[in-house]
Amino acid sequence: MKSLEELKKIREEAKKKVQLRHDSDGTRIVVGMATCGISAGARPVLMTLLEEVNKRNLSNVMVNQTGCIGVCRLEPIVEVYRPGEEKVTYVHMDSEKAKRVITEHIVNGNVVTEYTVGAYEK
Ligand code: FES
Repeated sequence: MKSLEELKKIREEAKKKVQLRHDSDGTRIVVGMATCGISAGARPVLMTLLEEVNKRNLSNVMVNQTGCIGVCRLEPIVEVYRPGEEKVTYVHMDSEKAKRVITEHIVNGNVVTEYTVGAYEK
């Protein structure tokens, strides 16, 4: 487990890198960080996403936080925007799922269908 200070540092560094980037032609990953998202575990999900993006040096990927996405019961929610593709909404996320989304969706371009809101609501 990383200390809060370490996590803060990682986040700040990631933020700096992100600010240097142009977001229009890249992938955007958005994590819902309203109180319900945070209480459902959105923080570790956000940290994992930032760490994975950093570790893999994914220079055209931005990770952002947002407030309420609107569906408390499905939190933590992660939305992925890739240029030229429909938005993908992942629900009930955790760190392990976040890692898989980075590898399969962000790096290899394959949506992890079983974690999407569409699969969940079936
Ligand atoms: S308050 Fe929970 S999704 Fe908005």
